[in-house]
Amino acid sequence: MAAAPGRVNLIGEHVHYNSGFVLPMAIERFTAIAADAAADSRGPTSRVQLASADVDEEAEFAVGPEMSPGAPHWSNYVRGVLAGCIARGFNIPSLDMMVASTVPIGGGLSSSAAIEVATAALIEAITGRTLEPVAEKALLCQRAEHQFAGVPCGIMDQFIAVGGRRDRVMLLDCRAMTFELIPLASHDVTVLIINSQVKHSLATGEYAQRQADCHEAARTLGIRDLHDATMKNLGAAESRMSSNAFRRARHVVGEIARTVAAADAISRADWPAFGSLMYESHASLRDDFQVSCPELDLLVDSAAGLGAEQGVFGSRMTGGGFGGCTVSLVRTEAADSIASSIAQSYSRQTGIEPTFFVTRPAGGARILPIERL
Ligand code: GLA
Repeated sequence: MAAAPGRVNLIGEHVHYNSGFVLPMAIERFTAIAADAAADSRGPTSRVQLASADVDEEAEFAVGPEMSPGAPHWSNYVRGVLAGCIARGFNIPSLDMMVASTVPIGGGLSSSAAIEVATAALIEAITGRTLEPVAEKALLCQRAEHQFAGVPCGIMDQFIAVGGRRDRVMLLDCRAMTFELIPLASHDVTVLIINSQVKHSLATGEYAQRQADCHEAARTLGIRDLHDATMKNLGAAESRMSSNAFRRARHVVGEIARTVAAADAISRADWPAFGSLMYESHASLRDDFQVSCPELDLLVDSAAGLGAEQGVFGSRMTGGGFGGCTVSLVRTEAADSIASSIAQSYSRQTGIEPTFFVTRPAGGARILPIERL
């Protein structure tokens, strides 16, 4: 059995496709996948029987060079990773597999990377072949998501699911594909994730539009991507681009600087400094990038309303936007009362019950021993 964590991005939103820096951490919510040799493994081709402990859906498919996407949709994360391993010459036997997950599905906490990365770790253990520790495994999983699930995701989710470490956050350079693990060792603070329970249908089209706006800005600046832009050269080029492209780029340039500053604040255990960067990030996503929504703003505003005196250092939307979750840095001892207070005021004002949990930075993918029954 192998398990891999979900993740939350602490800061660095909508910058990875501009080759910027992101700062995710693995959360204490995992997807586990177990396998045993198939009861009936005769026949020339390997077959996989895949079940889920969470949903009443199964898949059965042949494993070989001709693999293609199929139903149910979630089986594609597994199929895609197996296909990637086959393409690298791994010899995969017939298997009975089962998946179970505590990563909330569809909550923007990367349940898909968790299942991909857990599958890759399990196949390494089964075949005795290894993928180079972080980048190769993460990129194989990313390709599975592109080709089998049809989602053109970046590299962040798979990198952190593979390379996360307990009590560390990851400063990931999306251009160089290199990272640094920064200690968030003090147990005085913890991360609170609140799910607004809304998902506005705008998400997909708007996401693509934001990417296009960013690319327009980079083109106008004559650079490959906004990683290389500065506020100064952006300001000088303002009149040559659409006002949307300018505002999107202003978010990205500011957010990249904030992310690097945030990693530094964490390494100094300067929680107020880190917290202000989270609030600034939220304001920029709301006003310049325009991917927030009233529900997320409400969650962030009530966190800010409690303030540092009551144990909240900072809060922001996390993920693609238009719904999903907020992430806040809070004092561990006050975390429960903070969460209930924000949840109460949110449900009073929206009529929606949010869900929440607290987490410290967790470890990345690992193999787990199982006892045979
Ligand atoms: C979604 C995607 C992430 C990232 C964020 C925006 O959460 O899954 O890969 O693009 O949006 O930063």
